[in-house]
Amino acid sequence: MEKLEQLREEGLAKIEACTSTKELQDIRVLYLGKKGPVQEVMKMMKDLSQEERPVFGQQVNEIKQTFEKAIEEKKVTLEASEINEKLKNEKIDITLSGLKPNLGNLHPLTVIQQELEDLFIGLGYEVAEGPEVELDLYNFERANIPKDHPARDMQDTFYIDDETLLRTHTTAVQMRVLEENAPQLPIKVVCPGKVYRRDDDDATHSHQFSQLEGLVVGENIRLSDLKGTLELVARRMFGESREIRIRPSYFQFTEPSVEVDVSCHICNGKGCPTCKGTGWIEILGAGMVHPNVLSMAGYDPLTCSGFAFGIGMERVALLKYGIDDIRHLYTNDIRFLKTFNRFE
Ligand code: DAH
Repeated sequence: MEKLEQLREEGLAKIEACTSTKELQDIRVLYLGKKGPVQEVMKMMKDLSQEERPVFGQQVNEIKQTFEKAIEEKKVTLEASEINEKLKNEKIDITLSGLKPNLGNLHPLTVIQQELEDLFIGLGYEVAEGPEVELDLYNFERANIPKDHPARDMQDTFYIDDETLLRTHTTAVQMRVLEENAPQLPIKVVCPGKVYRRDDDDATHSHQFSQLEGLVVGENIRLSDLKGTLELVARRMFGESREIRIRPSYFQFTEPSVEVDVSCHICNGKGCPTCKGTGWIEILGAGMVHPNVLSMAGYDPLTCSGFAFGIGMERVALLKYGIDDIRHLYTNDIRFLKTFNRFE
């Protein structure tokens, strides 16, 4: 019995002396495990008399339970103090200035394209794409520009062979969309994409640039529909107080053809260097789809009509952001591109 009392006191003292949950776990394994002092004491059982044994056994069990309880209680306090210690040591100084993440941003041309697409998708248009390596058929012939026609000179072309070229305008996609859909009505698409011309690069010319073509075909589509649509475009891109005016022009694939000017967003139409003192800036070409174009694609120009327009997206970017040289859009100087980062 003395031995048991010693065991109890020793065990409880060891549990109490534990300073970490790890240490406590070791004590638990030792005292409640197979080779610990409790089992050691059990061996004494065989030397006891028949009557003494159950009393002894009961005592040992009680000690075991006491240890278990003590270990459980100690565990709770040790865990709490360990968490507190951790919180104290790992505290975060929120007043330290953080590391600035290096964020990328969209290219200004991408921004313009997305803004235009969003506007037209909101108006119920679909976005259509076509190949940049294009057939002469869609780039010229279906656009009512036959072989050897002088109108081909308006667009200096990179030919790959007699029938294949780098498309000179997104009007080629317009011709594909018409052919694919004929004779179904209505058609409402915008076609953004890169186009190519044999131009010498300078501040206002680039051998590769990008356009967004628009095409609507249906019953009773009129020039006034075109005008209303383009007014929306001008206002979305250059501000709600913009006006547009249309001037007669010439394209093979439209009749009548127009050129569209927007009132200058810099001087509000009073006249400044950006608008060369006129108060107006030319932004795009447009017109009513030529009857030949409709019939070549499989539509009956007597029962339907359409309007089309082609916007040069670099031109919109230069005007909108006040960029003085188209080449800035293509040299990919990171210092220039970063000025369009909305997060800096
Ligand atoms: N394709 C013309 C160009 O590149 C732009 C254009 C003008 C497109 C009138 C059209 C249009 O769809 O109707 O210069």
